[in-house]
Amino acid sequence: MVLRNVFDCTILELDKHHSDRRGNLTVVENGKTLPFDVRRTYYLYDVPGGESRGAHAHRELEQLIVAVSGSFTVTLDDGHCKRSFFLNRPYQGLYVKPGMWRTLEDFSSGAVCMVLASDVYKVSDYIRTYDEFIQFRKDYE
Ligand code: TYD
Repeated sequence: MVLRNVFDCTILELDKHHSDRRGNLTVVENGKTLPFDVRRTYYLYDVPGGESRGAHAHRELEQLIVAVSGSFTVTLDDGHCKRSFFLNRPYQGLYVKPGMWRTLEDFSSGAVCMVLASDVYKVSDYIRTYDEFIQFRKDYE
């Protein structure tokens, strides 16, 4: 497996169908929009101010993280470099490669964080401690 670094994780612009009168619509379609097909969608909401989420990495999972409402900051860490992304646009998504330690914080009031994921929920795909994460990176680098 080739491990990626934080600079391989980027903001993807999603298409935005704009109508002056009726508002906006953004589409994500398998085979067209993302570098992976979506097998699971989940969303975080009602996150109290000051709370953080994430603090784990995935071995194989690819994700697109979208602030469909409000804003929050995602910090990615590949064991060498950290990169923070402020997300506040429903027509942009942060594409996260496997093997990134991620932390989500600074949720605004009413923020909704939608995550599109390349696979179903698998406990075995999670790396839950930072020490284990660093070991995982070393094993594959
Ligand atoms: P967790 O991944 O720890 O959330 P976060 O990292 O954002 O803080 O998940 C919280 C709980 O939700 C945990 O008990 C597992 C459960 N969960 C599922 O059952 N299925 C899923 O797809 C996800 C993402 C979480």
